[in-house]
Amino acid sequence: MMKIAEIISLKNKRKITMLTAYDYPIAELVDKAGIDMILVGDSLANVVLGLDSTTKVGMTEMLHHAKAVTRAVKNSLVIGDMPYDSYQVNPDESVKNAARFIKEAGCQAVKLEWFERCLEVTGQIIKAGIPVMGHIGLTPQTADKLGGFKVQGKDAEAAQRLIRQAMELEEKGCFAIVLECVPDRIAELITKKLEIPTIGIGAGAHCDGQVLVIHDMLGLFARYTPKFVKKYADLSPVIAKAVENFKDEVIRGKFPAAEHSFSIKEEELRKIDGF
Ligand code: KIV
Repeated sequence: MMKIAEIISLKNKRKITMLTAYDYPIAELVDKAGIDMILVGDSLANVVLGLDSTTKVGMTEMLHHAKAVTRAVKNSLVIGDMPYDSYQVNPDESVKNAARFIKEAGCQAVKLEWFERCLEVTGQIIKAGIPVMGHIGLTPQTADKLGGFKVQGKDAEAAQRLIRQAMELEEKGCFAIVLECVPDRIAELITKKLEIPTIGIGAGAHCDGQVLVIHDMLGLFARYTPKFVKKYADLSPVIAKAVENFKDEVIRGKFPAAEHSFSIKEEELRKIDGF
């Protein structure tokens, strides 16, 4: 099982890999492929539950899916993404909620997005012995306060703010920080300034690691594909074709065939009234 210290030690050695997963079969595939970290992201809201905002999932949904993921994982470090109301709406409940990801769901760490009381809450969770991954730049839970789903840190003042946030999160004891939708030169500067790894999503090639939402990179989420996504597979048409084939074969009586059916001996059949 990947340890926090091992993740930190990968900085300046090799790039770190992270993908999201929300269920047992995908988590098993991601883990077996040797991905360093699996994030049970609150992007669950969008790509699995069909909701229009990540603020619409809570602890119940997140724990339910985190448990399915940890059941499958043998090696990757599993991180539970703290839902909006578990720490931003209720900062006083944040330590208790973070602990539930560890104790009930079997995660090794939690991630939380930057907000006004982020440093205070992060400090409390880390003091309770729970490893925290930070998340700055575009923070979807508070995207409305950032002017929508836009690249962050595009002028000097905003970039300085991001640099300050990253350094403060490192000081608080975060073991890594996600940089989302940040200009590549700013991500590079933050990466150089920090001793902990940066994990980029839409933050260029200079980060210490990269993360993508698995439904985006597998072509399983059609509603919106951000510019930073690379589709490593296009599974939606593959699934659509299989479903159409099933429908067609059932209607034409071609499925199930003999090899998909179970038999009974003739002598047993003869004992049945009316056969
Ligand atoms: O919820 C999520 O999937 C995330 C990633 C985009 C980093 O926070």
